[in-house]
Amino acid sequence: MMDYKNPALTLPENHNKQGVISWKSPSNIALVKYWGKYGIQLPRNPSISLTLDQAYTETKMKYTSQKTKDKEIDIEFFFEGKPNEAFAAKIRKFMLSISDIFPFILQLKFIIHSENSFPHSSGIASSASSMSALSLCICSVENELFGTLSDQKSLMEKASYVSRLGSGSACRSLFPHASIWGETAVMNKASNLFGIPYGDEIDPIFHSFHDDILIVNQGEKPVSSRAGHALMEGNDYAEPRYQQANDRLARLIDAMKKGDLETFGIITENEALTLHALMMTSHPAYILMQPNSLEMINRIKTFREETNLPIYFTLDAGPNIHLLYPHHIYDKVNPFIQSELIPLCEDEMIIRDQVGQGPSKL
Ligand code: PMV
Repeated sequence: MMDYKNPALTLPENHNKQGVISWKSPSNIALVKYWGKYGIQLPRNPSISLTLDQAYTETKMKYTSQKTKDKEIDIEFFFEGKPNEAFAAKIRKFMLSISDIFPFILQLKFIIHSENSFPHSSGIASSASSMSALSLCICSVENELFGTLSDQKSLMEKASYVSRLGSGSACRSLFPHASIWGETAVMNKASNLFGIPYGDEIDPIFHSFHDDILIVNQGEKPVSSRAGHALMEGNDYAEPRYQQANDRLARLIDAMKKGDLETFGIITENEALTLHALMMTSHPAYILMQPNSLEMINRIKTFREETNLPIYFTLDAGPNIHLLYPHHIYDKVNPFIQSELIPLCEDEMIIRDQVGQGPSKL
C-alpha cells in the first residue's frame, strides 16, 4: 500500500532554512456520507461531497531552523490571533504521527496562525478545512525545501492523503466543486487513501449550487464524530449500510452527471436521514437532531411540494440543516428562507455558502 514514507526528505545538519507558507482551504459537505472506519482512517464505504466556498480556514505556517528540542515537534500555535495550547497539543501529536512522511518537520520550528471564516461556536465542523489547510502548508514546505511537489496534481494528492490522516472527510476538501473518497466498483481511480477530484464529471448546475447552513444549535455535539464512527462497529445495520452507500454512490454520480436534480435530491436526503438513523440504532443509541432540525425538514418538504422547486436538505453529524439548491432559483427560495427557516435558527444564524473552487495558496 502506498504510504508516502520517505526518509530522503531530511535536511542536512546545520541547515539554515526558513520561510512562510499560507493556504486557504474550504470545508465540504458530504452527499453520500462516510460513516464507519477501520485501520488508519480508512473508510468503510465510499463517499462524495461538494466543496464549499465561504466556510474555510486560513493557515499561515512560518518555519525556521531555530529549533529548541530534538526529536520533538516544535510549534507555537495561534488560533484567531491568540495562543491556543489545546489546539497546539493536537497538532503536535498529528505532526509527530506524520513525521515519517515528512522527516524534516523534526528539524524545524513552526509558528502557525490559523483562522476560520465561520464562528468557532457555530457547531460547524472545522476539521475538514483546518486539516486540509494544515496539510497543504506542510506539503508546500516540502516543496520549498526539496522541490518534490511542484506539479499541482501531486501536491493535491499528497495533501489529500495527509489530510485524511488528520480527519477522514478533510481529504475531500482539496478539489474544485466535488470529490470522491473511497474504493468503489464504479470508479477504478477512486481510493481509500485520498480523495479524487470529481467536479469536471458532474453537470455544471452543481458548480454554483448553494449550501445555506442553518444553525439549529451552536453548541458542541454530545457525541463526537470519532465516537460515532467507532459505534458503527457494533451496529446491526453496519454491513447492509456499507452496501447501500456503494449503491447510492453509483446512482448519485449518474444523476449528477446528467444534472438530474430530482434523483440527486432523493438520494441526498435519504443519506442524511440514514446517517442519523445509524446514530439512533447504535449501542448506546443517540440523537443529534433537535426539534428545530425536524421542523425545518418538514417545512422544506412542504415548500418543495407546493412550489415544485428543486430545494433539498442534508445534515452532517449534528443538528444543523444544509439547504441545497441550484443558483437559478435563489430569488424564489430566498423569501422562504428568510420567513420560514431563519426564525428557527439559534440567534437567527445562517452561513450562506456555495460550491467553490477548492483551496488557494495565499
Ligand atoms: O471526518 P470525520 O471523522 O469528522 O467524519 C465526518 C463524517 C460526516 O461528516 C458525518 C460525513 C462525511 O462524509 O463528511
